[in-house]
Amino acid sequence: MIESVKITAAGLLLACFFSGPAAADPAQAPASLAQRLEQEFKGGYPETRKPTGKVQTVDLVADEAQWGIVPPYQTAVWAYNGTVPGPVLRVKLGDTLKVRLTNRLEQATTMHWHGVRVPNAMDGVPGVTQPPIQPGDSFTYEFTPKDAGTFWFHPHLNSPEQIERGLYGVLIVEDPKEPKYSQDLVWVLDDWLLEKGAEIYPEFVTRHDLAHDGRWGNLSTVNGRFRPSIPVKAGERIRIRVVNAANGRVFAPALAGLAPKVIAVDGMLTAAPFPLQSFYLAPGNRLDLDVVIPKNAQGQVLAVTDVFDGDPAVLAFLDVAPEAAVKTPGFEPPKASHFPAWSEAMKAPLNHEFILDAERGGPYGITWTIDGKAGHDNLAAVLPFGQFSRLRFTNRSGRLHPMHLHGQFFRLLAVDDQPARENFWRDTVLIGPEQSVDIGLVPMDKGLWANHCHILEHAESGMMSTIRVE
Ligand code: C2O
Ligand code: CU
Repeated sequence: MIESVKITAAGLLLACFFSGPAAADPAQAPASLAQRLEQEFKGGYPETRKPTGKVQTVDLVADEAQWGIVPPYQTAVWAYNGTVPGPVLRVKLGDTLKVRLTNRLEQATTMHWHGVRVPNAMDGVPGVTQPPIQPGDSFTYEFTPKDAGTFWFHPHLNSPEQIERGLYGVLIVEDPKEPKYSQDLVWVLDDWLLEKGAEIYPEFVTRHDLAHDGRWGNLSTVNGRFRPSIPVKAGERIRIRVVNAANGRVFAPALAGLAPKVIAVDGMLTAAPFPLQSFYLAPGNRLDLDVVIPKNAQGQVLAVTDVFDGDPAVLAFLDVAPEAAVKTPGFEPPKASHFPAWSEAMKAPLNHEFILDAERGGPYGITWTIDGKAGHDNLAAVLPFGQFSRLRFTNRSGRLHPMHLHGQFFRLLAVDDQPARENFWRDTVLIGPEQSVDIGLVPMDKGLWANHCHILEHAESGMMSTIRVE
């Protein structure tokens, strides 16, 4: 009878009913919902990455520096190797990165590799994966990134101050199989709260920041500069890697008239490219864009804007060279080799619901909480390695919470129980006021991982927890 039944879930159920339970060959056994979801995931991203054996060694020094955010002013910042952002680190997929971080600040620090699936001990979370790096000390981070894409690095200690003062940088993992764009640009977006003389406002984690969506500045920058001019050529096809490194501000980047396509989110290629339309780039998020500069744009200046507030605010200018247009390469944009359909994922049981809320009190006067608890001592969930999990974030507050899960990629499944149609992985998802958001994932990396709000003031005052994958 089994041979005559077509292999569908319903058919298999019938087959087993009539042929008796345990007797069936496991390959013919009915797949449970969980098994189907895990099967669909296969090939989404790898459990391991074979190292090529090539090791790239980098020295990063965190120290005070002067940086011209708004020339002619010089701003006293904290920086990696003297620049904001720090140096762009580029490695090839399979290569090993060895970064010695030396702390020349007057306070302890650590480095977190945002979005990179690193061995747990390299994740840079003080008190969870390593002790703080004291002033004058060094620590060497060593790992082989498992995924190609746009990632970033930043401190995970006193981050509302350390990141705000300029400590961040970008790590690009290149896949030689992806097409070559004529320029591969990195745009790190940030905003700064500057006082007279372009000095950084020195109060951090204020009651105001905590009662709102963290610290929003009064001046936005691209790569540490206010409204920079970026040289491009008419006809050229460029890849732009946009990173939001702000403490709290959400950007909605726009390139009017350029029809940018989103080819990657949070590092990972999308299942299919899609047009950039009011994409909320929350703190921590990245977007990779495929952009063709129009052939007839020679000599023009095109604006890059932020349209989060509705009114476009200029972030940068694209300065199109006066020369005749160059030839536009016609390759297909890169896309993910596999992405799970997961159309039944909302039927899977919930592994955990995280309740996001605030209460009065605590060292800052307001404490942001996950499940009524504050800080990384809260082990909020244990997820089984290699198995499908569904998680829900329920926001009981009126503020924004971009929730970031270390060491994992997940897919948005639903917002307020309405199915979501995103065709890409994320490591950070923005949860709006009073919203609930469901995500699905198959954890492929074991360890104790931070799960927190990426509005740094919210995280600092308590909106921080851990999950364990085992
Ligand atoms: Cu980008 Cu836990 O951080
Ligand atoms: Cu938050």
